[in-house]
Parts: sequence; structure tokens; C-alpha cells
Amino acid sequence: MRLLDLFCGAGGAAMGYHLAGLEVVGVDLEPQPNYPFEFHRADALTFPLEGFDVIHASPPCQFATAYGRRYDHVRPSPNLIAAIRDRLVGTGLPYVIENVPTARAHLIDPVELCGSSFGLDVRRHRLFESNRSLTAPVCDHGWQTPRFAPATNRVNLRSTVEVGVWRIPLDVQQRAMGIDWMSRSELSQAIPPAYTEHLGRQLIAP
Ligand SMILES: C[S@@+](CC[C@H](N)C(=O)[O-])C[C@H]1O[C@@H](n2cnc3c(N)ncnc32)[C@H](O)[C@@H]1O
Repeated sequence: MRLLDLFCGAGGAAMGYHLAGLEVVGVDLEPQPNYPFEFHRADALTFPLEGFDVIHASPPCQFATAYGRRYDHVRPSPNLIAAIRDRLVGTGLPYVIENVPTARAHLIDPVELCGSSFGLDVRRHRLFESNRSLTAPVCDHGWQTPRFAPATNRVNLRSTVEVGVWRIPLDVQQRAMGIDWMSRSELSQAIPPAYTEHLGRQLIAP
């Protein structure tokens, strides 16, 4: 089965679908030299959708985050969720739209995934809307006990690894996410492949 990965970034979601057994093709407005699969630099709102069996979309989330609102240097990102949903529904194909918990009001009946359910040293809650019925394991925060140096001057240890920060070695962040091919900034935008491997296995199940 061929999966189109819209708003693909450097391929966190892509790798999970690949591990689930899907052939993945990515699309992003920006060059993505580290994307590990076939890549097209293009606008997800106009890229042709023919020739695929399933479509995933990770539209920018900054419109729904404090980070996006607070800093002038962050490029404003419009909310593209409704526009991309219209395109995906129009294909009649199975689709998944991913976004952050603060975008919940913009998603239809999403399931939520958390790194703790997959044995990862992150929580990184993410929501997934789909026109297929998807199941999600519940969060399992209990085993994530304080054991990581804080990324600030605070003394309390943290229970999970912070992603995208400079004070934590990149390889520690990569291990926590289950990703070994991304830079810090790419990692800060990514989701752990374990999430989409879990969803991909459900999408390809007969
Ligand atoms: C949250 S990141 C995707 C992260 C990716 N799902 C992962 O797990 O690694 C969102 C991406 O959308 C891209 N983007 C923003 N607007 C776009 C558009 N209109 N068409 C295609 N890509 C776009 C950005 O360049 C960025 O790489």
C-alpha cells in the first residue's frame, strides 16, 4: 500500500508507517534533505492525491501553541486543518490528520497517543483524527520517574527528555524519540515513529 505523507518534515511519521509495512512518499514546502523516503517539495494544498491508498497529514501546529503566538521571529502559521481535511475527504481514501492537544477543538473525534505507552522517554501527546476507527493505548506515565537532568537551572530532575533544546545531547533526544537521523530542529517538529507504526498496522489490517 502506498501512503502519501503531507507536511512530512524530516519524516518521523513517515518512518512509523514504513515500519508498519507501507510504501511512503513525502511532501513538504521546505527542502527536507534528511527525509528517508521519496520526497517532493510542493504545497500540500495542491499536490495531486491520485495513486495513493492512504493519506497522512501533519499540518503546522504553531497556530495552536503558545510558542507560535509568543515570538515574533516564528513565522505565522495559518490553521490548515480544515482545508486539508476537505481535500482528504474528497478522495474517499482512509486518512489521518495529526496535531497537538491544543488543536483538539479543530479535530473530529481524535485518538491521543503518548510516548509513555510505547516505552519512550517522552510524553509528547499528539492527536490523530481519522475516517477509520483507530484505537490508542492509554497513557502509562507511571514508569516515567524523575531521572533526567533539567534543561534549566531548576534542581528537580525531569521525568522525560526535553526535545529540541541545546542542553540535552542530541543523541539522548534522538533515543527518546526513536529517531536517529534528524537534527535538533527537525526533531522538535517530529512525532515518534512508534505512533504511526501503531496506527499504520491498524490501517493495513484486513
Ligand atoms: C509538524 S511538521 C511535520 C513533522 C512530521 N510529521 C514528522 O513527524 O517529522 C509540519 C511541516 O509542514 C510543512 N508545511 C507547512 N505548510 C506547508 C504546506 N502548505 N505544504 C506542505 N508542507 C507545509 C513545514 O515545512 C513542516 O515541515
